[in-house]
Amino acid sequence: MPGYPALPGGIAYGGDYNPEQWPEEVWHEDVRLMREAGVNLVSLGIFSWGLIEPSEGVYDFDGLDRVLDLLDSAGIKADLATPTSSPPVWLRHRYPASRLVDSAGHVIAGGSRHSFCPSSPDYAAASARVTERLAARYARHPAVAMWHVHNEYGWANAHCYCETSAEAFRDWLRDRHGSVAALNHAWGTTFWGLSYGSFDEVEPPRLAPPGLLTALQLDFMRFSVDAHIANFRRERDIIRRHCDLPVTTNFMIPNCKPMDYWRWAGEVDVVANDHYLDAARTDGHIELAMAADLTRSVAGGRPWMLMEHSTGAVNWQPRNIAKRPGEMRRNSLVHVARGSDSVLFFQWRASRYGAEKFHSAMLPHAGTDSEVWREVTGLGADLRRLADVRGTRVEAEVAVVWDWESYWALELEWRPSVDLRFRERVEAFYEALWREHVTVDFVHPSADVSAYRMVVAPSAYLLTEASAKNLHRYVESGGALVVSYFSGIVNENDTIHGGPCPGVLRDVLGVSVEEFHPLRESGTVSVARPPSRPPSGPPSGPPSGPPSGPPAGSPSGPPEPAPDERATGRIWSERVRLAGARAVRVFADGPDAGHPAVTRHELGAGTAWYVATALDAELRGLLAEALDQAGVSRPRDLPDTLEFVRRGAHVFLVNHGDEPVTVHGVTGVGVFDGVGHAGAVTVPPGEVTVIRA
Ligand code: GLA
Repeated sequence: MPGYPALPGGIAYGGDYNPEQWPEEVWHEDVRLMREAGVNLVSLGIFSWGLIEPSEGVYDFDGLDRVLDLLDSAGIKADLATPTSSPPVWLRHRYPASRLVDSAGHVIAGGSRHSFCPSSPDYAAASARVTERLAARYARHPAVAMWHVHNEYGWANAHCYCETSAEAFRDWLRDRHGSVAALNHAWGTTFWGLSYGSFDEVEPPRLAPPGLLTALQLDFMRFSVDAHIANFRRERDIIRRHCDLPVTTNFMIPNCKPMDYWRWAGEVDVVANDHYLDAARTDGHIELAMAADLTRSVAGGRPWMLMEHSTGAVNWQPRNIAKRPGEMRRNSLVHVARGSDSVLFFQWRASRYGAEKFHSAMLPHAGTDSEVWREVTGLGADLRRLADVRGTRVEAEVAVVWDWESYWALELEWRPSVDLRFRERVEAFYEALWREHVTVDFVHPSADVSAYRMVVAPSAYLLTEASAKNLHRYVESGGALVVSYFSGIVNENDTIHGGPCPGVLRDVLGVSVEEFHPLRESGTVSVARPPSRPPSGPPSGPPSGPPSGPPAGSPSGPPEPAPDERATGRIWSERVRLAGARAVRVFADGPDAGHPAVTRHELGAGTAWYVATALDAELRGLLAEALDQAGVSRPRDLPDTLEFVRRGAHVFLVNHGDEPVTVHGVTGVGVFDGVGHAGAVTVPPGEVTVIRA
């Protein structure tokens, strides 16, 4: 795997550069200001296909030649893009079959990017030709440090339903299932008598009456990921024939649900990600931390690149809120704290025309006499001081299970409740851990988790037998596992595992579920500690045994815990029966009053916890208990407005609150001010302090 691009300043700093939108005299000003800001890397040519190949087979590299030479003369490196995310207008007219078609059969019009079918052979041939030309011409240009293939695979054309895609899907199914009998078996097509007589009869999941086969939908999602990966590989391999510079593409973790980035991870030389805050959220900084941790995890713990984020507002949300002073710096440095070796933006200079003219930039419409520009130059200087962070690692003691297939499957139609949302639970658990100052990795459920002190599975609806065994072994050999409700329910074909739920997790959790009791919208249940005397609850026994006996907490009805011990659950309640586990919380009211709400199962050398409702604020307390028992180290006595992340020899302290915070137990030198600290550091409100041990 080629290493990182050789950059003079350590951390890469810059953004998407679109000089084609400006006359050439502006390019000279750009380069001068880039140097002033400390920019050392720009992503170039991303949307240039229509310019460098104005008609089929006719190339014009004049502008790109001059821009690359200019950048080189200024010592600025290029992350040179293949322009294949925005095909030229001629492509769709010469090759109408290359057009994107939606699930209702509408041909998607031109006039924007991403309007092509990912399975189109015409698109494949044309994109290979332009990539070949670019790679042959620029592979050895001194300004080119790395390659940026395409842009955000799956942004608008994740799924195409045209006849070419249908044919490609059928071929993909032949490979996966071997025979139509195997496909019928896997998909459970005896249901509603939907069996196929041949692969040729299979249609992609186009607009259909309700109740479309869910296994068909899951396979189509997998097929579509593979179609995009094939497009990436074609271009990557062309570039690799010309040079050994790193090749990447920009992911959208975690905000592109259709792309299974675990499958993408091994394809790129360095993982690169685009991240934008959702301005409607007031906890965007926590979602940002989660995105960064997930990106690092997709990168296998290796440093990654923040390929795009914004200096201020974006243009594509309902209300595009500008960042407050200091927010862009906090955002940028949190990405670095959590493993990024770059801080790059969309984009360098704000556009005057087209769809993105109200998007922020490093150089805003207001010019250099602006708060944004002062922050941009200040950040450039800070990043130079952080040069030796580059290449260092973030270590985590806790892993959170994240599986895109489970995300897809859970959110198909006709589940027990529309409130069962993958990210809702993952983010609830992530937030609780973030507030406990625990840095986490994310893992696929089949990953080797033996190095973690604790593994959390907040939403593992789809879980294969092999993955469940993996988690079982982890607990038996001493791990602590925390699982949330509606996990371990179905296999990879959305078929319910045999016996009572949670199927493949029954043994490890020591519970079975007799009935789901989803709550009404905004409905809640109370959860309390069981009374201290041993509960005379339902007998432990085989999950398929008789219906449960009296409630777990008391033979005569719900327990009466002290009111201050009650917690609130939303979304979900269910009738949990103990089969080896013991109840550590019980439902105090609602449909499962008196029955277990949180359980704990000692198994082998480890422990498995099960949480049967959506605990909100109280989830943090419960996880703190589990973290303590698992021996997870973390700073204590810090307010949850202070983000604490250790990366290599550096400790990043980010104060998201309005009050100064003193952090004890940190000794070293402040990277930005050179001040030494022996045991305590005070971080002013809104500030980021980085201490080198
Ligand atoms: C994405 C794209 C960019 C730009 C930004 C705007 O990340 O990759 O080209 O459109 O969004 O936020």
